[in-house]
Amino acid sequence: MALELPLYGDRILLRPFDGADIPAAHRLYGDAEVMRYVGTGLPVTPAVTAQMVADYRRHQREHGFAFWAMLDRASGDLIGDAGLERTGQGTELGYTLGKAWWGRGLATEAALLCVDAAFGPLGLSRLVALVDAENPVSVRVLTKLGFTADGIVPAYGRPHRRLLLEQPR
Ligand SMILES: CC(C)(COP(=O)(O)OP(=O)(O)OC[C@H]1O[C@@H](n2cnc3c(N)ncnc32)[C@H](O)[C@@H]1OP(=O)(O)O)[C@@H](O)C(=O)NCCC(=O)NCCS
Repeated sequence: MALELPLYGDRILLRPFDGADIPAAHRLYGDAEVMRYVGTGLPVTPAVTAQMVADYRRHQREHGFAFWAMLDRASGDLIGDAGLERTGQGTELGYTLGKAWWGRGLATEAALLCVDAAFGPLGLSRLVALVDAENPVSVRVLTKLGFTADGIVPAYGRPHRRLLLEQPR
């Protein structure tokens, strides 16, 4: 079954990234605090943000899912990303929110939409998440969704917790 987007939560929606999202996306990916536990752990240049958005769009075309733009439904503002990506680890769940939006349960709301899409219309049976070992807030989000610990793996030169969620039978 094809996945219909956007995915709607009570407060946020997830939809594919568009080229016009690059400036708003760069307000996230260019912020050192936001990026501390994401990717290399460093803020990126505008050119890298543009490449990231292009990669998300290509992934969406190839797989029917990707990291999606997270919008605040009240204002229509792009406030983060959340979604699913095929990697060497399997299908990975990830999310990133602008600082102003932390601590309101929005990552959990977005991650739940991704999990429901994965195990529903996308027909996946298992999701993986990699979290910097120093990022307990993200581990808490995943634990609330039912992810369980599956060891420590290196990623971007730092130790990351690997967590797994299997589709309930
Ligand atoms: C990690 C991130 C996505 C969390 O988003 P959020 O919307 O603030 O998360 P939520 O509000 O849904 O949930 C946070 C949970 O962590 C808990 N928490 C907060 N600080 C904590 C800490 N120091 N240790 C453990 N848990 C903590 C909160 O209490 C909440 O759990 P609760 O609902 O049981 O009270 C957000 O901080 C972010 O975008 N950070 C930068 C990018 C990033 O790290 N992305 C994840 C990469 S794996």
